[in-house]
Amino acid sequence: MIYLDNAATTLRKPREVIDAVVSAMQSMGNASRGAHDEALHASRIIYDTRCALAELFGCSRPDHVVFTCNSTEALNIAIQGAIRTGAHVISTDLEHNSVLRPLYRLQEERGVLLDFVPADRSGKLDYDDFERLIRPDTGAIVCTHVSNLTGEIVDIGRIGKLAREKGILFIVDASQSAGSIPIDMEKMGIDILCFTGHKGLMGPQGTGGMCVREGVEIHPLKEGGSGVQSYRHRQPEEYPTRLEAGTLNAHGLAGLNAAVEYIRRTGLEKIGEKERSLARRFYEGVADLDSVKVYGDFSTQYRGPVVALNIRDYDSSEVSDALSQDYGIATRPGAHCAPRMHEALGTTGQGAVRFSFSWFNTEEETDTAVRAVRELADE
Ligand SMILES: Cc1ncc(COP(=O)(O)O)c(C=O)c1O
Repeated sequence: MIYLDNAATTLRKPREVIDAVVSAMQSMGNASRGAHDEALHASRIIYDTRCALAELFGCSRPDHVVFTCNSTEALNIAIQGAIRTGAHVISTDLEHNSVLRPLYRLQEERGVLLDFVPADRSGKLDYDDFERLIRPDTGAIVCTHVSNLTGEIVDIGRIGKLAREKGILFIVDASQSAGSIPIDMEKMGIDILCFTGHKGLMGPQGTGGMCVREGVEIHPLKEGGSGVQSYRHRQPEEYPTRLEAGTLNAHGLAGLNAAVEYIRRTGLEKIGEKERSLARRFYEGVADLDSVKVYGDFSTQYRGPVVALNIRDYDSSEVSDALSQDYGIATRPGAHCAPRMHEALGTTGQGAVRFSFSWFNTEEETDTAVRAVRELADE
C-alpha cells in the first residue's frame, strides 16, 4: 500500500515514537496526581514535551503550552474562550470546519460578527483584504497556516504584524504546518497557536494542543480535576492547568515528545523540503494532462506537500476508490472539511482527490501514483 493521505494523519511514525508510547504505557502513573515515582515520571515527560514544543514553536513559556486531544479541541477552546461576545472576527475561506463551526456557533449564540477574506479560483488570499476588513470592533483574526486542500502557505507573519499593530488577537491553525514549516510565535505575532500531534509532527493520534502568548486570557471550556488547588470552586487561573481539566493523554504525549525530538534531530527544514519535493514531483508528473485539473497555485515552490486534483468530471470518491482498489494508493476524496475553499475552487459537486506526502514517502511511491493517475486519465 502506498499511503498518500498524510494531511489526514501520518500513518508511518518514527520507531522512537512507538517505543516511547509502549514504554509510557508500562511505566507511567497519573501526572500531577501524587508524589510517587510513577506519577513524577509522567509529570516529567509531560513537562519535557511542553519544553520541546515551546522551543519548536518559539513560545517563550513552556507552561503556556496546553495539551488537548487534537487541534479541533484546541481551536474550540481558543475561539470559544478568547473571543468576546459581540466582537467582529475576520477569518478566511481557507479554513477547516474546526475553525468555521466554532465561529458560526459564536455568530449564532453570542452575536459575533464574521467576515471572511475570500480565496480566488486558485485558492489564494489577497492580503490587503485583511486590512480592508478590520473595523474598530475587530476582536480577533483566525487563520490557517496552510490550506489542507491546496497546500497554499499563508503569510502568517504578515497578518500577525498587522494584528499586533491594531491590537487584534491572532489565532493560528497550524494543523497542516507543524512539523514541516518553521513557526515562530513571537516573530510571527501569533497570540494562540493551535496544533495537532498526529499529522506532520508524526506523533500519536489523540495528541495536540495550543501555545498561548503571555498575557492572553482564555476562558476554560471545561472544569475538573487538576491535582492542584483542589479546594477552590473554580479551575486554577494559571496555565496550563487553567485549560487542562482531567487526566492528560500522557502515553500519547510521550510519543509526541519522541516525535518532536526526532524532528529536531532530523531537521524540520530537511523534512519539509523532502515532502515539498515529492509533492512537486507528483504535480509535474500529472500537470500536463488535459483531462486532469490540479487546484491551487503551483507557480510558487514554497507550498504545503498537498496536491488536489480531479480527472475529467469523474466523482472524486470514484477516483479515490479506484486508486485504492486497483493501485493500492490511499488518498482522500470529497470535501476535506473545507467547505468554503471548495466553494471558492468551484468543486462542491465533484470534491477533489487529495494526494498528501510525508517524510516517509519515496520517489518510487510518488512515480507509481503519477502512473496511476495517468492511466485513469487515459480511460
Ligand atoms: C487545516 C486543518 N485544521 C484542523 C484540522 C483538525 O485536526 P484534528 O482532526 O487533528 O483536530 C485539520 C485536519 O484535517 C486540518 O487539516
